[in-house]
Amino acid sequence: MTTAQQQVELVVRTIAETAVENEKYFGDLDAVVGDGDFGYSLARGFEKLLEGWDDLDRSDPGTFLKKTGMVITSRIGGTSGPLWGTAFMRAGMTAGADGELSGEQVVAMLRAAAEGIKARGQSDVGDKTLLDALVPLTDRLEQELQAGADGAAALAAAAETARQAAEATTEMVARRGRASYTGERSKGSVDAGAMAVAVITDRVSKAWETQGASS
Ligand SMILES: Nc1ncnc2c1ncn2[C@@H]1O[C@H](COP(=O)(O)OP(=O)(O)OP(=O)(O)O)[C@@H](O)[C@H]1O
Ligand SMILES: [Mg+2]
Repeated sequence: MTTAQQQVELVVRTIAETAVENEKYFGDLDAVVGDGDFGYSLARGFEKLLEGWDDLDRSDPGTFLKKTGMVITSRIGGTSGPLWGTAFMRAGMTAGADGELSGEQVVAMLRAAAEGIKARGQSDVGDKTLLDALVPLTDRLEQELQAGADGAAALAAAAETARQAAEATTEMVARRGRASYTGERSKGSVDAGAMAVAVITDRVSKAWETQGASS
């Protein structure tokens, strides 16, 4: 049997491994109109998380996610540390101490993560940030689950939406982060954070298909 704790661990580990493996790609994306440190920041932070993996408190999904958020906040530099850290912490707070997680709860956790990023970053959908992938993918996940799709199918659909949404940031003008310093010039390239969310969701979807479904 796959428990919710094991499922959350699979997802967080997959996020961390994806961040480490894509250090150069995410950095190159950020270098177009930002300062290029995004890939490095994310990789170093998640590397630390993986190094201390065995010592993380895994009493329940909520506690585990909150601890993860604390490590991320303290280990990732720049803007992304507080943003990603807050996202994990808010997701953990929403998961609570319950050992079980429904699809509805997972959607609520992702919404809480997005709200945390908005509050922390003074940002919203349309500012050309990771929110422009995270919010549409959450909407799609919710729609698919409500329509009766199983977790794997809903995640695969959400990953597709995330990819399209990330690509659509190309047309946007950056209003937050370093990329915003370039104004109109930020048009024509994809947002690094949004693409990172798309790549991560794709990886999580594939990992879920092979290992995540509860039996
Ligand atoms: N205020 C914000 N709210 C939400 N997302 C943001 C915000 N600022 C930046 N981002 C996201 O973070 C990504 C860049 O991360 P990074 O850590 O490199 O931040 P930055 O803006 O370059 O600032 P710095 O390099 O000084 O830390 C962007 O592609 C965007 O998706
Ligand atoms: Mg940067």
